[in-house]
Amino acid sequence: MNQHTKLDTAPIPFIDIAAQRRRLGKSVDDAVARVLAHCQFVMGPEVRELEAKLAEFCGAKHAISCASGTDALLLVLMAKNIGSGDAVICPSFTFCATAEVVALTGATPVFAEVDEATFNLNAESARKAVATARKLGLKPKAIIPVDLFGLAADFDPILKVATDEGLFVLDDAAQGFGATYKGKSLGTFGLATATSFFPAKPLGCYGDGGAIFTDDDALADTIKSLRVHGHGSDKYDNVRIGMTGRLDTIQAAVLIEKLKIFPDEIEARDRIARRYSDGLRDVATVPEVPAGFTSVWAQYTIRLAPGRRDALANTLKAEGIPTAIYYPIPLHKQVAYRGFPSVEGGLAVSERLSAEVLSLPMHAYLDPATQDRVIDAVRRALAR
Ligand SMILES: Cc1ncc(COP(=O)(O)O)c(C=O)c1O
Repeated sequence: MNQHTKLDTAPIPFIDIAAQRRRLGKSVDDAVARVLAHCQFVMGPEVRELEAKLAEFCGAKHAISCASGTDALLLVLMAKNIGSGDAVICPSFTFCATAEVVALTGATPVFAEVDEATFNLNAESARKAVATARKLGLKPKAIIPVDLFGLAADFDPILKVATDEGLFVLDDAAQGFGATYKGKSLGTFGLATATSFFPAKPLGCYGDGGAIFTDDDALADTIKSLRVHGHGSDKYDNVRIGMTGRLDTIQAAVLIEKLKIFPDEIEARDRIARRYSDGLRDVATVPEVPAGFTSVWAQYTIRLAPGRRDALANTLKAEGIPTAIYYPIPLHKQVAYRGFPSVEGGLAVSERLSAEVLSLPMHAYLDPATQDRVIDAVRRALAR
């Protein structure tokens, strides 16, 4: 940049939900108005329509909508009767909900390590964590890989560990729904998949929401019962302990409209991520997408040399460019989770990542000029 050019420091959004709202125009308003007209606010026709469309989108036999991504994970664990004495293997470098749901059932999360390049669960570490759980007298029951920042987890080796050890796999695709692994969409790996429709997610609604995907008919029936207080033949026939876990009809109506533009948005996100990587590859470690994987880029996260992150974040902030740290503390170091066991040998990679990662503004409507501002600012700050 010419040193006489005035630096643009107007604040830019980290995620521009308003830009998407402008693109959707009246379609969302009309969809919500239809719900306001028919007044079936709970389990209205849009809920079933959305579930059919979500199942078709990813190729799963069943899509069951629910109130949040956290409930989606929890409902699967409840349906599988996970509880006290059981162990569930999950990565430490993730959002807390992945392990929170395990603890909520009374079971023990056992933290495993992630891969340094992809930030996703390392299958060999998961296998070691199963052994750690057994040594502690726990019964390992499941593995929860996470499709962190939108990148599909490496399912083949994880599914192999699960088969060898007699466990089921619950994919935490809260950030990754829409991504693929070896040509198949997330939603089709393991026993079940959970996703979140929190507004900031690649496919978000206008409040809280989530969904579960499975090909297992019996599991789908149990989850549908659990999301409405464990109902049997009707809602006043209570055959199991459940919860209020339904998706609101208004949110389903919003999601039906958003799903129409989702494939196009996934393409845009990928284009933007590649552009970031081309602009930053020589100054920072840019995210890697292995061959055969895709990402929906829930976050675009770079990694910096030790000690460089805070100064970079502060410089960007001063120029109106927001950043975020996902996640500053790995779960095994969090107050609420540090009492739970970790894989033998420790979690050095998760700890390093927590100290070195930085997420940049990322959404489908990031225009080239704004993106260039971010790239230029990062490059200038790191050249100092
Ligand atoms: C990896 C992961 N798991 C689970 C969740 C929980 O989703 P929700 O916020 O919809 O409960 C989130 C989202 O915040 C997440 O990022």
